Amino acid sequence: AAVPPAVAAAAAPPHLLLICFPGQGHVNPMLRLAKRVAAKGLLVTFSSLASVGARLAAAAGVSAGGDGVPVGRGRVRFEFLEDGDPGSHLDDLMRHLETAGPPAFAALLRRQAEEGRPVACVVVNPFMPWASDVAAGEGIPTAVLWVQSCAVFSLYYHHVHGLVEFPPEDDPEARFQLPGLPEMSAADVPSFLLPSNPFKLLADAIITQFRTIERASWVLVNSFAELEPDVVAALPGVTPRPPELIPVGPLIELQQGQEDDEVRGDLIKAADDCVEWLDAQPPRSVVYASVGSVVVLSPGEVAEMAHGLASTGRPFLWVVRPDTQPHLPEGFLDSVSGRGAVVAWSPQERVLAHPSTACFLTHCGWNSTLETVAAGVPVVAFPQWGDQCTDARFLVEELGMGVRLRGARREAVREAVEAAVAGPCAGDMLASARRWSAAARAAVAPGGSSDAHVQAFVDEVARRARG
Ligand code: UDX
Repeated sequence: AAVPPAVAAAAAPPHLLLICFPGQGHVNPMLRLAKRVAAKGLLVTFSSLASVGARLAAAAGVSAGGDGVPVGRGRVRFEFLEDGDPGSHLDDLMRHLETAGPPAFAALLRRQAEEGRPVACVVVNPFMPWASDVAAGEGIPTAVLWVQSCAVFSLYYHHVHGLVEFPPEDDPEARFQLPGLPEMSAADVPSFLLPSNPFKLLADAIITQFRTIERASWVLVNSFAELEPDVVAALPGVTPRPPELIPVGPLIELQQGQEDDEVRGDLIKAADDCVEWLDAQPPRSVVYASVGSVVVLSPGEVAEMAHGLASTGRPFLWVVRPDTQPHLPEGFLDSVSGRGAVVAWSPQERVLAHPSTACFLTHCGWNSTLETVAAGVPVVAFPQWGDQCTDARFLVEELGMGVRLRGARREAVREAVEAAVAGPCAGDMLASARRWSAAARAAVAPGGSSDAHVQAFVDEVARRARG
């Protein structure tokens, strides 16, 4: 006999729907959270713009609709907004999100209910304050996933509420201090908050998103309690009081040293011979270099970086995205062939986990930062803008995991790589990196601090869904 619909709905696992800003640095942590939550028994739908769906389909073989794929005790499925063409410029994208996003997202939420999977909770990530307005309009509670550090959250929060005045950018000696954070200068502040920031619409979206964050039922953070204990502990003492931060990270793929290849978030297909190439290199010999998915180096910087990496005399694996490859010096690839490999996109976590990798020359995006912490690989920190400035400060000065590279001059590149791999402090940096790696892995292991936070979140979503 057929199961009555009310009984079937009561037996079905609660449905959590995530809506993700279109960028690799957002898709990765959001999809990894989706998998953690699904593994604990929820039905999870990952959604984003149609353009993200097309790229995920091409690079990661993701297909939308249907029942999705099993992950642990739950399932992950995909559905994308019917939102039209966002345009390629950041300002066009931000305007597109504001106008096309809300009706397309409302339609997507209603479709879930019509198809028998009413949404119990929506997870939004930064820069899309409208998504939680839409969810609230449908009577659905929201959680925010903050994809940057707790330190960066605190800096933004103090700024948005007028609780801090940052020192002038032209005074490198001037310092300020916030609760639970070390003394900082303007160079350590996320650059979107400084007067020189050219990305005004993005800065507006960052500030507006606090409206969403302060209304959310949960604020999940891609960090772990042991990494930033002081800043998390200090926030409840700030007036007006910020929401409680719930660290659920590091949201890494290689959690148990194994990858769940069925559900990947690559927007660009990774070169498939990187691991084989690393296998052929000596242990702890390779310099891995990447500036993530958004940073664009100038032609001059690319050329200096090329000469600098070549002059280390060490093997290197360098991610140079296709738009930047024309700026490589003429004959460069031939001149380094065998010792140096240039790829358009790498399987980064596998590269960092590989025993041949000695250090990571990174722009310090927060995902790259946490991935290198989890892998225990020392860094050459080369931040460009936004939260990368704060992350670099923490990696080098607070975590003791590397050195700073200021400016892409070839001698500076060579010296920084030498200092991180073989300099007098290299042993200490490696020891720090390994200690942080152990702490990161313990946080996400069963019963660890972040695992317990994910479980508590899942339990509460299930409890509310049952009414
Ligand atoms: C952006 C911002 O720049 C960053 O500062 C912010 O914290 C998040 O959004 P992005 O610049 O792309 O992100 O850097 P990052 O946060 O490091 O994310 C890049 C992701 O792409 C990482 O998960 C990394 O593993 C992955 N990646 C990068 C690859 O898989 N292969 C590559 O070749 C390069």
